[in-house]
Amino acid sequence: MKLPPICKTYAGRKVLDLPGLELKDGVIHAVIGANGSGKSTLARILAGVLEPDGGALPRVGPSGYMPQRSYPFRMSVLHNLQLTGAGREQAMGQLKAFGLDGLARQSAKGLSGGETARLALARLLLKDYPFLILDEPTAAMDVAATLLAEELLLQYQARTGCTVLLVTHSLTQARRLAGQVLFLREGRLVEQGEAGQVLFHPRRAETRAFLDFYAL
Ligand SMILES: Nc1ncnc2c1ncn2[C@@H]1O[C@H](COP(=O)(O)OP(=O)(O)OP(=O)(O)O)[C@@H](O)[C@H]1O
Ligand SMILES: [Mg+2]
Repeated sequence: MKLPPICKTYAGRKVLDLPGLELKDGVIHAVIGANGSGKSTLARILAGVLEPDGGALPRVGPSGYMPQRSYPFRMSVLHNLQLTGAGREQAMGQLKAFGLDGLARQSAKGLSGGETARLALARLLLKDYPFLILDEPTAAMDVAATLLAEELLLQYQARTGCTVLLVTHSLTQARRLAGQVLFLREGRLVEQGEAGQVLFHPRRAETRAFLDFYAL
C-alpha cells in the first residue's frame, strides 16, 4: 500500500510530516517512537477520523481501528459485541477466546482498563478487515492478556491476510509480531525497515539513541 505524503499542523506546529509511506501487504508494521512523536496522529489519519493538512487522504480501503482509548457502549459486555451484528453464539465464542466470558452480563462501563481494551480488540476482530490500525492495543493489559491478544491477532492476520499498523511502546512486542518497524521522531519518519534490522541494527543514530533506553 503506497500512501501519499501526510502532514498535520496544530496551531502552526507541524506534529506530523511524513513522506509517502509504503506499507507491505499482509505484513504487521510496528510504529514506535517517544510520547508525542505523532504515532496516534498517523493512526487517526489513516483510520479516517482525523483530517490531515490539505484534506482527507484518498481512501486507503475499509479499515478496522482500535483507538488508544476506547469507550464501550453503556450496555452489557455481550451486547457491545452483538452491536457489530454478531449473533449471540459468535459473540460468546469471542468473549471466551478473550477470557471475558465470565463478564458477559456485566455493564461494559464497569470494566477495568485492561478488560476494556480486551473488549475493544475482541469487538474489532469479529469482522474481517483488509487493513487494521491498532493504537497501543495492549498498553493496559497484563502480561497474560497481552500474550493472548497477540496470539489472537496473529491468528486473525494469518486467516485474513490483512495489513496491520500497530502502534506500540513495547519493543519486545514489536519483535514478536512485526515484519516491519517504523520509527517516528518529532513527527518525522527516521527509519523504516525489516523488524530485525531496525531493532537490532538500526542505520540511523537517532534510532540507536532511542533504542538505547531499552535492553533488548
Ligand atoms: N488536537 C490537538 N491539538 C494540539 N496538539 C495536538 C492535538 N492532538 C495531538 N497534538 C500534539 O501532536 C503531537 C503528537 O501527538 P500524538 O498523539 O500523535 O503522539 P503519540 O506519538 O501517539 O504519543 P503517545 O506515545 O503519548 O501516545 C503531540 O505533541 C500532541 O500534543
Ligand atoms: Mg498515542
